[in-house]
Amino acid sequence: MKIGVAGKGGSGKTTTSGTLARSIAARSRRVLAFDCDGNPNLGPTLGLPSDQFDEGIPLPHDVLAHIDRDGETVTELSMPLDEILDRYAAAAPGGIQLLTMARAQKPGGG
Ligand SMILES: Nc1ncnc2c1ncn2[C@@H]1O[C@H](COP(=O)(O)OP(=O)(O)OP(=O)(O)O)[C@@H](O)[C@H]1O
Ligand SMILES: [Mg+2]
Repeated sequence: MKIGVAGKGGSGKTTTSGTLARSIAARSRRVLAFDCDGNPNLGPTLGLPSDQFDEGIPLPHDVLAHIDRDGETVTELSMPLDEILDRYAAAAPGGIQLLTMARAQKPGGG
């Protein structure tokens, strides 16, 4: 099952995503959570301690390969998913694995 949560700023996307992830994991389902916000904060919502969350490594672009297939560009993972999880996922309580897609630079640079 894949669930995507999108919507207007401040409408409760992160709260809803964290609650969904935790309630599905509580039913003994494997949950892989993606935080696609450039200012990510799903980690604390999942109960990840802030020191671990702040150290989280955003996924590098090269985990995706853009392949030309019969004139059409297809995007695929460039390495097995388990390897991506080993390298980049943070382990949140309840067995939830969290991948952070991007992280904006800290403010101050204009
Ligand atoms: N069902 C709800 N009832 C009342 N308050 C809520 C509810 N869901 C979320 N909130 C509160 O609304 C605020 C925004 O929630 P949240 O951060 O989940 O939204 P978001 O859509 O992820 O925001 P952003 O666009 O900034 O990422 C938070 O203070 C949260 O605690
Ligand atoms: Mg949010």
